[in-house]
Amino acid sequence: MQVFKEKELLKQSLATKKRTGKTIGLVPTMGALHEGHLHLVKEAIKSCDQVVVSIFVNPTQFDKPEDLEKYPRNLEKDINLLREVSEEIFVFTPNANELYGDFIVSEHFDFEGLDIVMEGKHRTGHFDGVGTVVKLLFNTVEPDKAFFGEKDYQQLQIIRKLTEIEHLPVEIIGCPILREESGLARSSRNERLNDLQREKAAFIFETLKETKTLFGTKSANYINDWVEQQFRNYPFLELEYFEISDAKTLKKLTEKREGETYRAFIAAYAGDIRLIDNLALNN
Ligand code: PAJ
Repeated sequence: MQVFKEKELLKQSLATKKRTGKTIGLVPTMGALHEGHLHLVKEAIKSCDQVVVSIFVNPTQFDKPEDLEKYPRNLEKDINLLREVSEEIFVFTPNANELYGDFIVSEHFDFEGLDIVMEGKHRTGHFDGVGTVVKLLFNTVEPDKAFFGEKDYQQLQIIRKLTEIEHLPVEIIGCPILREESGLARSSRNERLNDLQREKAAFIFETLKETKTLFGTKSANYINDWVEQQFRNYPFLELEYFEISDAKTLKKLTEKREGETYRAFIAAYAGDIRLIDNLALNN
């Protein structure tokens, strides 16, 4: 396992690989790794010769300084988890100035509306921060493929748009959501849930699955009202938003169209812990 803190050293090692025709896969993360992240890493290993996992808590994507400060950091534990997957992985863990240079600021992107709904509406500037750091990582690693989870489906669509508008020669691979046995989507935040909250949070996925059944026969308005009602009757979670959107444009569904694919999205609080999940409705 090689751990790189400097861009130049990583680039040199990758150049050697590239010269011999090896393909490079990148898995960007902010650390606090769990099975969901490791699943992306395993997918990358299946289809690329050399896998780079970046571990970098990106300051520009946090809208609240206290969230950045509170973000869990345990590099040694992360490295050990990756080591169990493969000794061949390159870990890239720069500090902020190494990656950004002197000015740790976001670039502004035109994501054609993908960034103003759902997570974007609730977290100002978040997706400019994500776009900025992912572009920096792509420019450093120059991967053939990069792997992102559908857990953050809006982020995945935004990264696809980023590569399109910036003409970045990288294939974006979306990977399915890895879940706990209860159906709760895996997340580093789940560790902060107490036993009761963790059990009750499975309601999010249960509701999404019922949404999918209803979607066959009911309108978006009907399903919206139904979901809001379900959460009103459920004292363990507070719904922040529920949306059914076009899976590509993320525009809120008003009228179902033949041949289009749709997804349902939920953000909800268990105490002060914010959880998100989503599910494909018709594919
Ligand atoms: P982070 O939250 O660490 O997530 C890293 C990657 O793991 C993302 O692509 C995310 O969608 C994926 N992931 C997390 N939980 C998952 C699960 N249960 N199943 C499948 N994939 C899962 O997302 C970020 O970091 C950052 O925004 C980043 C892209 C690294 C930019 O800073």
